[in-house]
Amino acid sequence: MELTAAASGEGKGRGSDELLQSQTLLWSRTFNYIDSMALKCAVELGIPDAIHSHGPHITLAELMSSLSLSPTKTPHMRRLMRMLTHSRIFTCSQNCNGGEGYSLTPLSELLVDRNKNKGTSCQNGFVLTVLHPVFLNSFQSMSDWFRGNEDTPFSVAHGCGFWDMTDRDPEFNRVFNEGMACDAQFLMDALLKDCGHVFQGLESLMDVGGGTGSAAIAVSKAFPEVKCSVLELQQGRNRFYSW
Ligand SMILES: C[S@@+](CC[C@H](N)C(=O)[O-])C[C@H]1O[C@@H](n2cnc3c(N)ncnc32)[C@H](O)[C@@H]1O
Repeated sequence: MELTAAASGEGKGRGSDELLQSQTLLWSRTFNYIDSMALKCAVELGIPDAIHSHGPHITLAELMSSLSLSPTKTPHMRRLMRMLTHSRIFTCSQNCNGGEGYSLTPLSELLVDRNKNKGTSCQNGFVLTVLHPVFLNSFQSMSDWFRGNEDTPFSVAHGCGFWDMTDRDPEFNRVFNEGMACDAQFLMDALLKDCGHVFQGLESLMDVGGGTGSAAIAVSKAFPEVKCSVLELQQGRNRFYSW
């Protein structure tokens, strides 16, 4: 059966409400990356630490001063904080002087330096790893990868595999290892707290691809009788190490 032009909706013309909604959605999808970039900027500037140190609320002027930023950037910081509040990284309330006061949320408490935040694992390294240009550039190559024969978008963007990159770029390797260690420490804290019994009775354990050994160290601290080892590439730390 053939669809007539009217039945298929062709030529019918969309209502302006529907068109506007579609364009709004398109803009939202197109500009989504700014959420991630705003988060990265907050971590790089140390905004969560500044709010934590000042606590519990910080005004815009106090924030600018504690970050040693020029007052000429205040209107831009207000916009950045508005975005970060919208994405629930911070909350905003009117303070007693009528200005805006920013506070941490449970999410941004994860971005406060571990030493300042009662030992809760700080996730800054993870954010900075995932939003590192080396990672982001490979996403720019997705369509080229679909059309071509390379193994991954990463190799299209960088001309080498991921582990070759960590081998050849010590700074990226450092950032990556730090990010992975952040993630592992966070997960191991939760795992050992709630499911630590899975390690009871073990004599030895090997973490294959265990990075700088965060997970193995956490197990070893909680269960000193378990002999823990890590098998890694040369750039991780050593090829093989154990406790
Ligand atoms: C996703 S990371 C895991 C990081 C780890 N969980 C941590 O806490 O840091 C994967 C790890 O596997 C390692 N790796 C990749 N290929 C490997 C191989 N052939 N043999 C041993 N380790 C390898 C990488 O160097 C990297 O550290």
